[in-house]
Amino acid sequence: VGIRPADVGDVAAIADVHVGSWQAAYAGLVPAEYLDGLKPVQRRGLWSRLLSEPTQTSTGTFVAEDETGVVGFVNVGSSRDEDASPAVGEVVAIYLMAGVWDAGWGRALMAAAVAALTAAGFAEATLWVLVGNTRARRFYEAGGWRADGATRTEERGGAPLPEVRYRRPLAPEPR
Ligand SMILES: CC(C)(COP(=O)(O)OP(=O)(O)OC[C@H]1O[C@@H](n2cnc3c(N)ncnc32)[C@H](O)[C@@H]1OP(=O)(O)O)[C@@H](O)C(=O)NCCC(=O)NCCS
Repeated sequence: VGIRPADVGDVAAIADVHVGSWQAAYAGLVPAEYLDGLKPVQRRGLWSRLLSEPTQTSTGTFVAEDETGVVGFVNVGSSRDEDASPAVGEVVAIYLMAGVWDAGWGRALMAAAVAALTAAGFAEATLWVLVGNTRARRFYEAGGWRADGATRTEERGGAPLPEVRYRRPLAPEPR
């Protein structure tokens, strides 16, 4: 019970959390037909590739696990944004099953993510969040993340999904 690095044995569980959390969190934000059509099995290939990369020098995935199994995950790496310097890391995804929201797991996963990015040498980190995802935005703001002014609009199921970027500095590791 706690947070640990993910391994290839977690692929199916992470795919389940990924889809389940999307469906719960994005109802009303993303078209229902799109959410209904998501299948965990379709996400397994992605997670299988990510978790079997031989060297995870600048990327990492951590899972939150309780007595029932994996209930959440976070994935970090170098920023994928065109305007980012190599010193910028990214929290690519942080998802928990709806049944465990607001129980401190997100905070614990985020602490692992920030520690991993800091240890990898990144000076700051960014993440993207849907404008309408008020739960996540409250969570990030409580953790010291701030909107940096960047916006983008993704598309899912034919609907535009506006996002804002959040940013926070990473403290160097104490020596
Ligand atoms: C967003 C998400 C990861 C947050 O995780 P969580 O486990 O629900 O959140 P926690 O229980 O750790 O934190 C909740 C509370 O602690 C606060 N908190 C979080 N980090 C904090 C910090 N570092 N310092 C102080 N307070 C903090 C939050 O503001 C919140 O307080 P509130 O209940 O008074 O609003 C989770 O709700 C989730 O998976 N949501 C659905 C998927 C999603 O939207 N993911 C993000 C996509 S961009």
